[in-house]
Amino acid sequence: MNTLKDVAAALVAPGKGILAADESTRSANKRLQAVSIAQTPLMRRVYREIFLTTPHIEKYLSGVILYEETFNDSIRSGVPFIDVLNQKGILVGIKVDEGTVPFGKDELTTEGLNGLPARLKAFKEKGAHFAKWRAVIEIKGDELPTPEAVRENAARLATYAKDCQASGIVPILEPEVLLQGNHARGRAAEVITEVLQEVFKEISAQGVDPEALIIKSSMAVSGSDSGCKDTPGQVAEDTLASFHASVPEEVPGIVFLSGGQTAEDATANLQAIAEHKETMWQLTFSFARALQGEALAHWAGEDENIPHAQDIFIKRLELVAAARDGRYREEIEKELQALL
Ligand code: 13P
Repeated sequence: MNTLKDVAAALVAPGKGILAADESTRSANKRLQAVSIAQTPLMRRVYREIFLTTPHIEKYLSGVILYEETFNDSIRSGVPFIDVLNQKGILVGIKVDEGTVPFGKDELTTEGLNGLPARLKAFKEKGAHFAKWRAVIEIKGDELPTPEAVRENAARLATYAKDCQASGIVPILEPEVLLQGNHARGRAAEVITEVLQEVFKEISAQGVDPEALIIKSSMAVSGSDSGCKDTPGQVAEDTLASFHASVPEEVPGIVFLSGGQTAEDATANLQAIAEHKETMWQLTFSFARALQGEALAHWAGEDENIPHAQDIFIKRLELVAAARDGRYREEIEKELQALL
């Protein structure tokens, strides 16, 4: 696998998707705390090990995004996580942004551009094939996001992408439009469109190759406090309309974050998106919570629960991968629900 385009194509290959196992230490601790597990380096390592050593994940995963703590760590037996993934033929990715900082009065931008080329070089030498940078965009009525925040985040995403491509690493650009808020689905779609348009304006201005990158997007869903429940068909229609208005056709793929949707909703929405056969990009998953949440709750920090947690994880993964190809069925969802 030599060129950036080959790597990008492999990441979004039919039947497969990406596991986002790159929660920052703070986010990983939040996930552990939510299910009353001690927030220690050991428990974070076991958390990663449960998912990355589940048998047969390579059937459904093209890549896994790691956080630096895991990238440099090993499983209990002493085998580095990177080698575990390499042995399964799963591409290793690395989150390279350094988190969000305030921007303007009420918004956020992402830092991590200082010294990025040197960090990318080191990650590449250790085996990373791709990277991720997350920008956070909040919706608040018509006031947020401001054009300034959209522009700043788009410019930083493009600079990061340029550095990645120069280092031989495929960039995943993730402008996450948050689910939190009371906005309508249509407003989410409008913001996703605006943000992606700005990202591609910057990509072109900064000379980034659109054929050697992957976009990671939110789905267009109603805000979590809106009281509205969208049908998968509505989500698919609005999400794809946003992409058609903003993403050039030479981009090889768009992957989705789950953003706080339930695992079932995220899977059903992905299935509805996949049912639209007319799209020119590969569309697949890059979930964290919607893939790991159910298994995490069943693990509950106890070693004896690990095999059951892994059974749950592989079943959800099978379902999400089926949805990515438009083959998700209620009956297999029931098989999973029976395990919960
Ligand atoms: P969720 O699927 O939990 O939203 O996480 C995906 C991700 O990578 C967020 O940056």
